[in-house]
Amino acid sequence: MCGIIGYIGHRNIHPTILKGLERLEYRGYDSAGIAWLDSGIRVYKKAGKVHDLAALIAQEKLNSHIGIGHTRWATHGVPNDTNAHPHLSASGKLAIIHNGIIENYSILKQELLSKGYIFKSDTDTEVLINFIEDVQLCNNCSLEEAVRLALNKVVGAYGIVIISQDHPNTLIGARKSSPLVLGIGKDEFFIASDATPILEYTDRVIYLNDYEIAVIKDGMLFLNDIKNVPITPYIQKLEIQLEAIEKGGFEHFMLKEIFEQPTSITDCMRGRLDIPHKTIKLGGIEAHMDQLVHAPKITILACGTSWLAGMVAEYFLEELCRIPVEVQYASEFRYRNPIIQPGEIMLAISQSGETADTLAAIELAQAQGATVLGICNVVGSSIARATQAGIYTHAGPEIGVASTKAFTAQLTVLMLLALSLAQRRKTITSSKFEEIITELASIPDKVKAMLQHASKLKELANLFKSATNFLYLGRGYNYPVALEGALKLKELSYIHAEGYPAAEMKHGPIALIDEDMPVVFIATKDRIYEKIISNIQEVKARKGKIIAIVTQGDEHVKQLVDHIIEVPATHEALMPIVSVIPLQLLAYYIAVEKGCNVDQPRNLAKSVTVE
Ligand code: M6R
Repeated sequence: MCGIIGYIGHRNIHPTILKGLERLEYRGYDSAGIAWLDSGIRVYKKAGKVHDLAALIAQEKLNSHIGIGHTRWATHGVPNDTNAHPHLSASGKLAIIHNGIIENYSILKQELLSKGYIFKSDTDTEVLINFIEDVQLCNNCSLEEAVRLALNKVVGAYGIVIISQDHPNTLIGARKSSPLVLGIGKDEFFIASDATPILEYTDRVIYLNDYEIAVIKDGMLFLNDIKNVPITPYIQKLEIQLEAIEKGGFEHFMLKEIFEQPTSITDCMRGRLDIPHKTIKLGGIEAHMDQLVHAPKITILACGTSWLAGMVAEYFLEELCRIPVEVQYASEFRYRNPIIQPGEIMLAISQSGETADTLAAIELAQAQGATVLGICNVVGSSIARATQAGIYTHAGPEIGVASTKAFTAQLTVLMLLALSLAQRRKTITSSKFEEIITELASIPDKVKAMLQHASKLKELANLFKSATNFLYLGRGYNYPVALEGALKLKELSYIHAEGYPAAEMKHGPIALIDEDMPVVFIATKDRIYEKIISNIQEVKARKGKIIAIVTQGDEHVKQLVDHIIEVPATHEALMPIVSVIPLQLLAYYIAVEKGCNVDQPRNLAKSVTVE
C-alpha cells in the first residue's frame, strides 16, 4: 500500500529518494515525506503527491548520503501533514518509515502514554518508533538489538526502514508481511517496497523474508532473523529493464499497459506453447502436474481483477478439464472454516504477489494441508514465494493502478494450464486441442487489431462521460468480462457501474433501465448468442442506451443497438482476452474526459498489503 525507500551510500539522497518516491507513488499517494541526516534528523512531509513534497524541499540545502522516504496510503489517521511519514521518536533521534499495520498498537500506545510519551500523529507507526526507543532505553542495548526486541512484541504487518542520529552510518530494515527488497550497489545500499526505485542503480537484490532484519553498518550488510540467528543472504539478479517502468511516450501508464498487451500475451506464451509439437510446457508447476491431474477439485483464491480472471478460468477449466472449480474471494475465504478435500489444489492468482488477503488465504489453506500454486506477475513477490510452486505471467511491471495487461496475461496462463491439464486428463480431443492452441497463438494479433480502433472508444467516451450510472451485461464467458468492465469504469472515473449476468437483469436491475441508462452488452457470437439477443431486446424495449461489443461482421445486433464495437472472432473461451480490450479503453477514455487521475485513482493503491 505505501511505498518506502531508504538509501545509504555515496549519492546525494535528494534526487535518489525523490526519484524513488516517484517510482513508488503507484503504491500509495495521499501524502509523502522524506527524512535525512545531517547534524540531526531533518523531516519534511506533506499531504498530497510526491511533486508537492519536491516543491516543499526545493529550497533546502540537502547534502546527505543517508535518508528515507515514504509515499502513503492512509490506514491509521487521515491523510494530512502530521500523519504522513517519516515519524520521529520522542527524542527526535530516530526516524522511521513503515508500510503495514501494527495491530497491537493501541496496547503499546497505552503503555507508552503511561510512561509519559506524547504523540503528535494518529498513526501506529509513531507508536512503533517510540516503542523501539523505549525498549532501547529500558534495556540499555544497541539500536539493532532494540529493533529486534521490539519487533518480537509487535503483532501485525510491517516493512520498515529506520535511521538514527547517533548512528549516521547505519540503515536498518525489517519485514513481516509487507514486502521489502534490498538493493546492493557499489558502496551503496537501497531498501524499498519493490525493485522499481532500485532498478536504475543496481540489478543485485535480496528479497527479505518475514521476520528478517537487515542492518547496513559502515558499508557492510548484516542479515539476521528476529531471533538473532544470522541468515546467509541470497542475492538475485533483477531481470526487469528500466524502460519497462517508464511511460515510453504514452500519456499514462495505463494506456501504455493496454497497448502492451499484444506483447505481454506473447511473452507469457513464450517457451510454453509449442504449436508445431502441439505441446504445452509449464516448467514452474511441472512437479505438481500429476497432483493436478488427479485433483478432485480446484479452488481459486484471489481479489479484484485477479479474482475475475479466476472466474473466467472457472468456466474453461470445468469445460475443458471436467474438474469442479470454485472461485473464492481471498478476503472471505481467510475467515471461513473452509472444507478442503484431500488432494484438492488451490490456485492463488495475484498480479502484485503482495495482496494481504490472498497471502492470508494461502496460509490458511496450507495450514490445512492443501497444495497452493501461484499465478503471479511480480517475480520474487511474497505470494510467489509462499506458494509451493507457480507460474509467472511475465506481463512486465504493471504500474497503472487499474489492472489491464496482468488480467489478459492471467487468462492466457490459466488457459495454458487448462489445456495442458485437459490433454493429460484426456478430456479434450486432439482436434479441439489443436483448434484452441492455434487460436491462442493468434490472440496477440487480434488484440493488436482491436487496439487500432481505440479512437472509436474515445468517441464513445466523449458521448457518455456525463453518465452517472452504467450497466455491463454479459453471459457465459463474457459475464466475468462484464464485471471487469464495470470495475474498470468505477475505479477510474468514479461513475457507478454494475456488472451483471445478462439473464439475471430481469430479476431486479431491469427496474433501473430508462433512456438515461447506458448499458454495455458483451454480445459476441458463442453458444448463447441467441439468448443475449433477447436480453438486448429487453433493454431496447425500455429505451436503455445500448453499446454492444460484438463479433466482427455481426449485422444483426447492429440493427438493435445504439453503438457497436466489433472485435475479431475467436474461440468463445478465448474471447474474454479480446472482448475486455474495448472495455479497458472505454474506462480509460471516460476517466481522461472527466479529468480523473487515471494512473492514481482516488482512495486506491496498486497493491493492497493490508486487510
Ligand atoms: O495484485 P493483485 O492482483 O493481487 O491485486 C488484486 C486487486 O487489488 C486488483 O486487481 C485491483 O482490483 C485492481 N485495482 C483492479 O484494477
